Amino acid sequence: MELHTFPDRQTLAATLAEHLADALRRSITAQGRASLAVSGGSTPVPLFERLSEANLPWRNVLITLADERWVDASSPDSNEALVRRHLLQNRAAEARFIGLKTASATAEEGEAECVQQLRRSIPLPFTAVLLGMGNDGHTASLFPCAEQLAHAADMGCGTICAALRPQTAPHERMSLTLPTLLATQEIVLHITGLDKKAVLDKALADGPPEAMPIRFILRQQAVPVSVYWAA
Ligand code: 6PG
Repeated sequence: MELHTFPDRQTLAATLAEHLADALRRSITAQGRASLAVSGGSTPVPLFERLSEANLPWRNVLITLADERWVDASSPDSNEALVRRHLLQNRAAEARFIGLKTASATAEEGEAECVQQLRRSIPLPFTAVLLGMGNDGHTASLFPCAEQLAHAADMGCGTICAALRPQTAPHERMSLTLPTLLATQEIVLHITGLDKKAVLDKALADGPPEAMPIRFILRQQAVPVSVYWAA
């Protein structure tokens, strides 16, 4: 794991936007297309705004979500709405977007359709997966307390996404599973604040990965992980 520390969040956002744009550009040059899975939450907003201005052939870029809260796209809690508002703007308005939310009433009921939709439309591996982290050590919607965590974090689960019901956060979720999050050329963990740095330090120490699912990402060796952090 490589830790990149920045003097402020804007500098982080600008540098990370450039890094991701370069990775997308390289993939388009090599294979004619690129794909990016992004997280929601509040942290990536300035990054999304910078990245949306990157000069690259966005029509060749497919964007999806690492996870989604099972709410309508009109809800302020929708990650899809966040991505549409802050990332699929400016030059990036030309990118193709595949969301995780279906019309089903619950994520559990929507799981099969979501799996099909992702299988049909997302060529793996991703160019990059952008993750956040919660103060409980969750990443994407792999929550420590969720009953479905064992399945979603099982490298042999054989499915692209899974419904989870966190006990400590609102809304049922749909999350890419661990094998899907790891089907990428690189993972970037974007975190800000002293509290998140303390959580990262705790995650890097000993302890079971189920207690802090970000450990599944930090401990694996198959995919390079860079952590971008600013206070
Ligand atoms: C979500 C996320 C989640 C997020 C972390 C950090 O939908 O909730 O994708 O994994 O990245 O909870 O959220 P903040 O950036 O708001 O701290």
